[in-house]
Amino acid sequence: MAPSTSLGKITLPKQQRRLLQPTIHSPKHKRVTATPPAALLQELFGDDAHQPPKPRRASDETLAVHAGEKLGKDAASDSIATPIVSGTTHWFKNSEDLVAFKEGRRHSHEYGRYSNPTVKVLEDKISALERAEATLVTSSGMNAIVTALLALVAPGGHVVTTTDCYSEARAFIRDRLSKMGIRSTFIDLDDMESLKTILDQDDVTLFYADSPTNPLLKCVDIRMVAELCHQKGALVCIDSTLASPINQKPLTLGADIVLHSATKYMAGHHDVIAGCISGSEALISKIRVWHHDIGGAISPNAAYMIIRGLKTMALRVEAHNRTALQMAQLLERHPKVERVHYPGLESSPCYQVAKSQMTGYGGVVSFEVKSDLCGTMRFVDALEIPLIATSLGGCESLVQQPAVMSFWGKSDEEKAKNRIKDNFVRFSFGIEKFEDLREDILQALEKI
Ligand SMILES: Cc1ncc(COP(=O)(O)O)c(C=O)c1O
Repeated sequence: MAPSTSLGKITLPKQQRRLLQPTIHSPKHKRVTATPPAALLQELFGDDAHQPPKPRRASDETLAVHAGEKLGKDAASDSIATPIVSGTTHWFKNSEDLVAFKEGRRHSHEYGRYSNPTVKVLEDKISALERAEATLVTSSGMNAIVTALLALVAPGGHVVTTTDCYSEARAFIRDRLSKMGIRSTFIDLDDMESLKTILDQDDVTLFYADSPTNPLLKCVDIRMVAELCHQKGALVCIDSTLASPINQKPLTLGADIVLHSATKYMAGHHDVIAGCISGSEALISKIRVWHHDIGGAISPNAAYMIIRGLKTMALRVEAHNRTALQMAQLLERHPKVERVHYPGLESSPCYQVAKSQMTGYGGVVSFEVKSDLCGTMRFVDALEIPLIATSLGGCESLVQQPAVMSFWGKSDEEKAKNRIKDNFVRFSFGIEKFEDLREDILQALEKI
């Protein structure tokens, strides 16, 4: 259908505009609690933004490409690629213009540490993908974690988290929050009864968990913890990095806050460090105030790289999911493999929970080979495609043996506490051809 024209202004046909409304295509994601921010509606639907919301129809694939964009139009450019607005400060035509901005009557930006047009496009795109009212993008995943915790938990507050959440988040909660008069309790993710007990016995401000966890790939039942915590007035914050917004949408499952190391699947190319936090406008505004003080702004160039990365995220994640699942199934049957950790395996203790809240299981697979430290090193060294490196979620497959990477030099007790054995290997499968990776892994297993 050709675009309709009125007084020289081109408007998209209604049918086409409806296609850009977020949809939730999995029956598992029925609970939609968030509505897109007004600015995003304006972006997507132009003059129709003030009409009652239409049915949500756009898929993640379409939102990843289009949501939040058309900045070029505002920047007096017709570039399809969102312009990188590199200025650190923004000027006002006159005092009246400035007052209109201060009173929220005119949308603009003031100073780069507070907001930036390119970063705003990224925030709106992530909001659409997470079904969130608002998103804050930060300079790193760790910055997102620290800022969210400081903003949402005041001195005297109490954070409950799991023993296997991201190691640096765990250390921050244990070692730094305690110095600010914030209590923390660590529970085993397999023992959710203890969460009930703590909620019954004590005031809990916030429950914080990764799902899936890294590197053991355990999943927390987000619906269940949200229900338990909300009965007692506690907030729920989920680090969904290992899932990506394609495979899991914690806000639709009842979580209050979802955060990511955007360094991983979102950016997707092992070339930019960033983080993001999504949730209700009220909670994100509260976190944004702290973000302004802490100064964790991302550079517009880095934001553009993530916008670009997000456009292919759905395609990439589909490839990561497919390769990882096939590889996990293959490894599970291999005589030189003792145990495989992957939530998409029917044998996984997390399978039912994962199936009920994820639409794919991600690219990270951990397993234990039938060997010792040196035999496992021989396997890793014999691999020709995966690179020995930390991190995950990029196009290149990565492999690491935690005993010689993150746990090198740590005591046996520390390793045992984290369930890291010498024969433990973690893969982040990239988007290379499955058959090439399979051949490589099979030949390397022969070298043990
Ligand atoms: C699950 C998870 N959360 C948070 C982070 C921290 O993210 P960043 O390295 O972007 O600061 C990481 C980093 O590896 C991670 O794996």
